Amino acid sequence: MSDTEAENFDVVIRDGQLIDGTGGPARALDVAISGERIAAIAAPADSGHWWGKLEIDASDRVLAPGFIDVHTHDDNAVLRDPAMAAKISQGVTTVVVGNCGISLAPITDIDPPPPLNLLGGREYFQFATMAAYLAAVTDTRPSVNVAALVGHSTLRAGAMDDLKRGATGDEIAAMREKLAASLDAGAIGLSTGLYYKTAAAADMEEVIALAEILSDRGGIYTTHMRDEANHIIDSLTETQTTAQRANVPVVVSHHKCSQPANWGRSPETLAFIEEARKTTTMGLDAYPYAAGSTVLDPDWVHDRIRIMITKSEPHPEASGRDIADIAKDWGCSLKEAAVKLSPAGAIYFQMDEADVQRILAYPPTMIGSDGLPHDEHPHPRLWGTFPRVLGHYSRDEGLFDLETAVHKMTGLSAQTFGLKDRGVVREGAFADLVVFNPATVKDLATFEKPLQQSAGIDYVLVNGTMSLMLGNLCPDRAGQVVRNH
Ligand code: ZN
Ligand code: CU
Repeated sequence: MSDTEAENFDVVIRDGQLIDGTGGPARALDVAISGERIAAIAAPADSGHWWGKLEIDASDRVLAPGFIDVHTHDDNAVLRDPAMAAKISQGVTTVVVGNCGISLAPITDIDPPPPLNLLGGREYFQFATMAAYLAAVTDTRPSVNVAALVGHSTLRAGAMDDLKRGATGDEIAAMREKLAASLDAGAIGLSTGLYYKTAAAADMEEVIALAEILSDRGGIYTTHMRDEANHIIDSLTETQTTAQRANVPVVVSHHKCSQPANWGRSPETLAFIEEARKTTTMGLDAYPYAAGSTVLDPDWVHDRIRIMITKSEPHPEASGRDIADIAKDWGCSLKEAAVKLSPAGAIYFQMDEADVQRILAYPPTMIGSDGLPHDEHPHPRLWGTFPRVLGHYSRDEGLFDLETAVHKMTGLSAQTFGLKDRGVVREGAFADLVVFNPATVKDLATFEKPLQQSAGIDYVLVNGTMSLMLGNLCPDRAGQVVRNH
């Protein structure tokens, strides 16, 4: 032992391989935490004088920044189920809520039309302002940090009597006012879901009029585009034009080439994005599965792809079954079955694995789960996304190295969304950390059995608080509202 004086910390994590989230190589480094922040980083030879109230042995393990789930619909889940087991158990320490145009605030007194009902029923839409929602998150103190987007469809539902048309000048003015107030209260940006019937009638000018508000407030624009199928290049063009004219950074949500007719088109879409990135701040996220999930809409049902029911209000027993089997049992068409099952949710097996891999491997692509926490039989991405990227795609398929996998779910995400002092392991950053076993990390949730905790995630700390220990949830929760400006 050297004669250096002992240094005391709250937590010391020793003998792990540190992957710091920047994309740089793993290194043998120990990390010390005081309070909410990382206090020191040193080689094992130089940390012998450290003393932690809690000492974690990370030998044969990787220590990384806690994962940032940039695409979630956890707005209500963080309040109703603040333990957030599905996320903490994957190593996720921050969730971005309010994606796809759908946010729980600011709106009250509404029978949420699909897809707003992905967040729950009327009783949960109780927040007239974003300030009230964020205060509720702070009071509830979920296990994960929360960064909130304002949903365009939520703004429309609050300002308009009929969502099947474009907004008038007065309605746009009302939405701009609510958006500005939401950003001032701490929201990080605006999301749209132009694909959905609650927003499809909005033209680009309506979206630009809103996105402009983000520009001088440092907000970000994320979009579930108008079309991810035959007209995907038109939608990418619209997305780029919107971002340029509003002068804001944009994220293409859950990028995919949807429907069999468009399988194999990812070289074309990624080339578009690569070119757009020369003049526009454009990012993208993706989840590591060849199936998507959202509400069930009879207009989207056809026999060219498999469709599985995740929940049905009138027929809860249908959860987990294929609509083709249900229609056969009922002796009716797929569309008739969809009408009978609605309101409902579904998994659409609409992508090509080669496209999924090409999009995941594209360097600017971030990881976002798009998990739907209120489904009875959810898409397995809810419980499996991050371990699946680390285990299946990085280790087993060799799609990219582990440092790249971690970067796509930490440093790249924090940088893109402007989340200060998150997503990297360095002195002074928040102590959002995960310790995992690179040899065993693996998603166990499947389409048949989706509610399975992943393997190989050992410890998770959120703002310095132990939140998962040896794979078990801890009682203390330390999530905060995270802002970007
Ligand atoms: Zn979406
Ligand atoms: Cu989504």
